[in-house]
Order: sequence, then C-alpha cells, then structure tokens
Amino acid sequence: MIELPNGHRLEYVAASGALAFDGRGWWWEWPLRWCGLLDPSKFAIVIKTVTRRPRRGNLRWSRPWEVVRLLKGGVVNAIGLTNPGIAWWCRTVGTQVPKRSYRLIGSIYGESPEEIAEMASMLDTVPLVAVEVNCSCPNVGARAVSQTEAILAAMEGARQATQHPLIAKLSVAHDYCAIARGLQGKVSAIAINSVPWAMACQGAESPLAQFGGGGVSGRAAQLYTWRMLQELVDVTSIPVIGPSVWTYEDIGRLRRLGARAISFGSIFLRYPWRPTAYVRREQREHSCARMRG
Ligand SMILES: Cc1cc2nc3c(=O)[nH]c(=O)nc-3n(C[C@H](O)[C@H](O)[C@H](O)COP(=O)(O)O)c2cc1C
Repeated sequence: MIELPNGHRLEYVAASGALAFDGRGWWWEWPLRWCGLLDPSKFAIVIKTVTRRPRRGNLRWSRPWEVVRLLKGGVVNAIGLTNPGIAWWCRTVGTQVPKRSYRLIGSIYGESPEEIAEMASMLDTVPLVAVEVNCSCPNVGARAVSQTEAILAAMEGARQATQHPLIAKLSVAHDYCAIARGLQGKVSAIAINSVPWAMACQGAESPLAQFGGGGVSGRAAQLYTWRMLQELVDVTSIPVIGPSVWTYEDIGRLRRLGARAISFGSIFLRYPWRPTAYVRREQREHSCARMRG
C-alpha cells in the first residue's frame, strides 16, 4: 500500500491504456462493467496518456489490430500515444471527475520539461488522486524527454506546477537507478512501462516492425520489468508499483519482490475480467486471514 501525501492510498492500479481516458474502460469492456465482472472502483485508474496537443500517433480506430498484437502471455503495442490532447481531456473528462466515483490518476507526456510543467498545472484543479508523468513511451521518437537530466528537470518542473502527488513512469531503457536516486523525496511513486521489443525479444522480428517494434508487456515482459522493480527497491525508498501481472500468484510474487502497489496493464486487454477477480480474491483471502488471526 502506498500512502500519498494527499491522503489517498494506492493499492491496486489500472495502468495507463487499460481503462481508456475516463476510467470507464474501452467500449468492448463496458458489458463487463455493466454486469459487474469489471469493477473500476477497485482500482486507482491511470488515464490513457494525453499530450499538450492532439496527437495522431499510429492508432487508427478502424484497424486497431495494426498496432496492438496479442503475444503468448502478453501484448505488443505501438500505439504511439494517439490522443485528443489535454485541452480536450480537461473539457470533457476533467469537468466530470467530481461527479464520478472512480479514482483517477492523470497521465501526461511532454516533449520538454516546460511542456510537462504546463500540462501538470492544467490538471491542478481537477480532483485527481495523483499525476503520472510518462517519461518513457517506447513508441515515440527521439524528441522524448528520455535522458536522466531531462527527466529530473521535468519532474521538478511538474512538482512546482501542481499540488498533486507525482508518479514517475520509467522504462527499462532508462538509467532508472540514477533517475530514482535523483527523484528521492520528490515523487510519491515509480511506475514501470512496457519493454521495447528489441530488448524483450532480442533477435526476433516484431509483428509491428514497421512502427519500430513496439513495447512488450504482460508475462512476456516480466523478466525485464521485475528485475527493474527489484533494482529500484534496492536503490531507493520511493515506493515502486509492480507491473506485468498475468496470474493471481503474480501478485504475491510482486509483493515479495518489494512492490508497494500492484498495477494491471495489458492483462486488461487480454482478460479484462481478471484484474477485478484477482482483487476480489485477494481481499477475500485477507479478510479470512484477519478473522482467523
Ligand atoms: C494497448 C496499450 C496501451 C498503452 N497505453 C499507454 C499510455 O497511453 N501511456 C502509458 O504510460 N502507458 C501505456 N501503456 C503501458 C501500460 O500502462 C503498462 O505500463 C505496460 O503495459 C506494462 O505493464 P503490464 O506489463 O502490466 O502490461 C499501454 C499498454 C498497452 C498494452
């Protein structure tokens, strides 16, 4: 469990991209929500990342499979941050947040520290649980804020621009231990992004090669994301959110590795009912154990 400075707690997180821009899920997830098999209230929900201006990215809604492919035990995606922009989000979703019972975490991606600070300040009046800064999308080009110094500057700018607690979303491709040391005392948590194809599937050709390979997530990424988690836990006291859950047992494994909250990402795409079932099961088991103890 992660206690945030604003009093909110993070225990189970729906990762960015899992439940759309507003926390209600993508249209194909709605029937599961209506019948209770997917319960968004169980999670602190990271919205799909928004950028300063609308971004076309690689996703075409008429042909989504062109940029998202299921793997054995995972997903590879090369969406490239397709989104309608933060102004749209603030207008259409941000204004609705006070009326909703879902707990939302903002997610922003910027081309420069200044842009990230500007976006963080745009979210300041929205009642969010926290703001996640996506420092690490594997599917965007070299202009990304991806070097250690730039990330530290961006997080510092965001910190000054918003009252919200901050989450830094990092990648295995970063010098993440150096970044974590630099962020000590400045962010409330670290989240872990998908793994660039070239790293996760060395030598094999990606089905999304024309988009640069894409990012691998889910069980197929555990070797990399869990090693990153362990190293971060060793070098920093910043709580780390554990990713890449695929089976119920993975939750216990992540906690033993030192994860302070559990994140569900691509499992929502493959098995959208499982995260809710896993949370319910763990809560049931904990309350039985408490009654016995
Ligand atoms: C289809 C899809 C879309 C995603 N979109 C975003 C995004 O917009 N912003 C972001 O920070 N991460 C995004 N991610 C990455 C996830 O939030 C998560 O960090 C990643 O999948 C690793 O976690 P997992 O192994 O539990 O899936 C996306 C992942 C997938 C599969």
